[in-house]
Amino acid sequence: MEVVICKDYDEVSLKAARVVADLVHARPDAVLGFATGSSPMGLYRELARLHKEEALDFSKASSFNLDEYCGLASDHPQSYRYFMNKELFDHINLPVEKTRVPSGTAEDWPAQCAEYEQQIADAGGIDLQVLGIGSDGHIAFNEPGSSLGSRTRLVYLTEQTIADNSRFFEKQEDVPRTAISMGVGSILEARQCVVVASGANKSPALAAAVEGPITCMITASALQLHPDTIIFCDEDAASQLTMREYYNWIQQQKQADKTT
Ligand code: GLP
Repeated sequence: MEVVICKDYDEVSLKAARVVADLVHARPDAVLGFATGSSPMGLYRELARLHKEEALDFSKASSFNLDEYCGLASDHPQSYRYFMNKELFDHINLPVEKTRVPSGTAEDWPAQCAEYEQQIADAGGIDLQVLGIGSDGHIAFNEPGSSLGSRTRLVYLTEQTIADNSRFFEKQEDVPRTAISMGVGSILEARQCVVVASGANKSPALAAAVEGPITCMITASALQLHPDTIIFCDEDAASQLTMREYYNWIQQQKQADKTT
């Protein structure tokens, strides 16, 4: 894992967006994996800016999202489909029919989950997966105890996640109790993972994910097994990383190597 500690959220967003943009330049038909939550919003804002002001072209790309709440239709303001349209898809030229978000209203969840996995496989797999991290260390909605080999499936949210995500809903009771989520095993198959994390409330989860043991209790820790994961975090999120100075030193060396 490469850890890039940034001065603030804006730098996290700009640097992470640069990695996505470089891939889209190099491979216009890239298969992108997107995440929801507040963490990637700045990254999406920057992608929208790059599209508008620097003609970053998504017309040949396609995308898959990590998860969706069960019971919320795509036009529900708290659904992840709605979020993605509003935060990103409405602002770039990624053809909407090439953007996939699991349906929150399927009649047959197992069939839908199997189909989602098949669609990812048919697309040739995900080239770059954007990830946030939950305060309990989850990625997508893979809550503590999720199998590290899990695939797309219906999951029950923890009380912690329901409380964390209730800020987007009118009241906590409105937060769905279940979701469809790509599994840890599905995520690990992405060719590259880009994690964005900011704020002190993420610092214990980030430290456990990066420097703790690989455990189903912190599903982000499974990324230690991934060969190409880069983490962009701000100083607050990085505050509990034991090897903070080493990560900074690596980045300084890389910078120096580039300029010589
Ligand atoms: C939800 C999403 C995750 C996201 C997490 C953190 O649980 N399913 O993909 O990483 O929230 O959200 P935030 O970035 O708002 O802290």
